[in-house]
Order: sequence, then structure tokens, then C-alpha cells
Amino acid sequence: MTATAKQQEQGTGAPLELVVRTLREDDLEVADHVMRMAFGTYLKAPDPLGVFGDSDYVRTRFAAAPACAFAAELEGEVVGSNFATRWGSFAFFGPLTVRVDLWGRGIASRLMEPVLKLFEEWQVRQAALFTWPESPAHVHLYQKFGFWPQQLTPLLSKPVADPEAVEYTTYGDTPQEEQGTIVEATRRLTGEVFEGLDVEREIVAVERLGLGETVLIHEASELSAFAVCHCGGGTEAGSGTCFVKFGAARPGPSAPERFERLLDACEALAARRGLERLLVGMNTARHDAYRRLLARGFRADLHGLTMLRPNEPGYNHPDRYVIDDLR
Ligand SMILES: CC(C)(COP(=O)(O)OP(=O)(O)OC[C@H]1O[C@@H](n2cnc3c(N)ncnc32)[C@H](O)[C@@H]1OP(=O)(O)O)[C@@H](O)C(=O)NCCC(=O)NCCS
Repeated sequence: MTATAKQQEQGTGAPLELVVRTLREDDLEVADHVMRMAFGTYLKAPDPLGVFGDSDYVRTRFAAAPACAFAAELEGEVVGSNFATRWGSFAFFGPLTVRVDLWGRGIASRLMEPVLKLFEEWQVRQAALFTWPESPAHVHLYQKFGFWPQQLTPLLSKPVADPEAVEYTTYGDTPQEEQGTIVEATRRLTGEVFEGLDVEREIVAVERLGLGETVLIHEASELSAFAVCHCGGGTEAGSGTCFVKFGAARPGPSAPERFERLLDACEALAARRGLERLLVGMNTARHDAYRRLLARGFRADLHGLTMLRPNEPGYNHPDRYVIDDLR
């Protein structure tokens, strides 16, 4: 059935003359408003617009990769948006949002089209998303496009304590002429986690946009773990929070210890920045990493669901020590 026929069948009146195109700088304010209202309404927040505080997704994702940001436009107004993120051979999308009064009219499905086209062009090995496990509508929507539910991805946080003594460096403090070597080392490490995985985009965006720091841990002279952290307001973390957007320890028998050191380093960074909470996402299929977080006092603020296409575990394995949530 065509999108137009579907809109008519749903009894919502005239077919929508919808244009799906790349997002522009002058769309950002409206796109951000639509995104906050949509989530605030879904979550039944008393003040829907305030749902994310001063955390930012629309502007930071647009700034990181404008060509991967899409708008749905109706009668000259932005009524929805979606964002694709490429991490080398792996990709995900979101936040996907639609103006509240237009839900159920096929707009999100249309906003999936450019994202799926990009995934095809990039020839990623696997694509993913983060959604609400309790929502049959969300799970249905994404299954339509070949994404299947796997294990939960809780967002876990803990108050920042006095940090353990841990040696770490940061990408930002690395002399510019050595930063390329560092990115190369992160790529080698993530390649061991999942062939072709590459989060250079996040490291560079955090540095270029001043969103936080990338924490680096070396063993001898080799990179053994790293974490890309957003810090405070105007980032994906929000005021008072250090959010680990992506973190990984090199696989192998010492991976659990490397992971522990990485968490110490993230907490030390948060303390240094005067932040009160440390926030991480963890797929529960990374069972040992998940249990270690709980043992450290992390508690789930929210349970998300990761859906993957194709329906394979990807890097969600008990022996993977990776932090991400794909929001
Ligand atoms: C989720 C969201 C983007 C969907 O947008 P939308 O334009 O309403 O979505 P669509 O109309 O394209 O698709 C909704 C699908 O869910 C289906 N659906 C609705 N209620 C359902 C239910 N209870 N059970 C199963 N399927 C249901 C619809 O029939 C439709 O599927 P179809 O195309 O096969 O008929 C929008 O509701 C939103 O912005 N929500 C708040 C923010 C959010 O949660 N974003 C997604 C985060 S992962």
C-alpha cells in the first residue's frame, strides 16, 4: 500500500503532501521543539517540553553530521525529524520524532526512508535503534523495516564519588599531530570488538563542538580502553551529568580489568569537571559488563530496547565490554 493510500485508510482525511528532505540549520529550533514535545507527551511528563532539561540531541547530531539529518515538512513546516549515525560498519538512527497532532499518519515511516537508503549506501554490516520496550506501536514500526528486538539496554547512573586513583589521558590533551594516531588506535580497538566498528565521528564531534572529553587508557604504549564522554548542559548529558556516549575495553582475558579502569577514569573525569552523576547505557547481553556496573552501584533510570537488523547479536556478547545505548 502506498503511504498516501494508508493515510486515507486510517481515516485521517486528505492525504498528506509530505516532503522528506535533509534538515537545515534554520529548521533546528522547530525540529528541537517537535522532538521535545513528542518525547514529553509519550512519557506523559507534566511539562512535556522540559522532559530533557538542557540536554541536546537535535543540534549536536545536526552539527556532527548535517547530511545525515532529515526533516519531514508539511505545508512549509517541519513536523518531524530523524538522524542517522554511522560508526564504520555499524549504524543506528534516532531520535525519530513526529509532531504530536500528526501521529499515526505514516510520517515516521516516511522518515525511515532516507535513513535506510543511507544504511544501504554505507553497506553497514548491522544497523540498530533504541526504543521503548513497553510500546507495541514502536516495536511494530521498526519490525516493519527489518529491525528485531533483542535484549534490554538499561540507562544506568550513579552519583559521582571520590575517584579511584587511575591514570588516563584525553584526546583533547593529545598534541594535534598525534591525534590521528590516537584515532587509528581507537579504530583498531573497536575493530576487535566488532569488525569495522569505528567511532571517530563521536571523538571528533566531542572535540570540535566542545561537548566533553575522550578518555584514553594505555597499557604499556598500547590503547587498552577509551570512552567518549559528553559533559554537562547543551550536550547529550545535560547539566550535572557525565554521559558515556561510547566506551570500549580491548577484548581478551584482561578485558574486565580494563573495563573497570575505564569506569574509574570516567568517574575521575566527571569529578574533575564538577559533575554529579555518571550515566552509561549497557546492553544486558554484555552480561559481565552489566553485572560489574550494578556491583559498582549503578542503577537503572530507564529500560530501553535495542532492535537490530539483521537479527544478530552484533557486539552484544557476554565477553564484550562496551558502553553505548544507541539513543
Ligand atoms: C514513534 C513515532 C515517531 C511514530 O510516528 P508516527 O508518524 O505516528 O508513526 P507511523 O504512523 O509511521 O507508524 C506507526 C505504526 O505503529 C502502528 N501502531 C500504532 N499503534 C499500535 C499498537 N498499539 N500496536 C501495534 N502497532 C501500532 C501503526 O499502525 C503504524 O504501523 P503501520 O504503518 O504498519 O500501520 C511518534 O509517535 C513519536 O514521535 N513518538 C514520541 C517520540 C518517540 O517515541 N520516538 C521514537 C523513539 S524510538
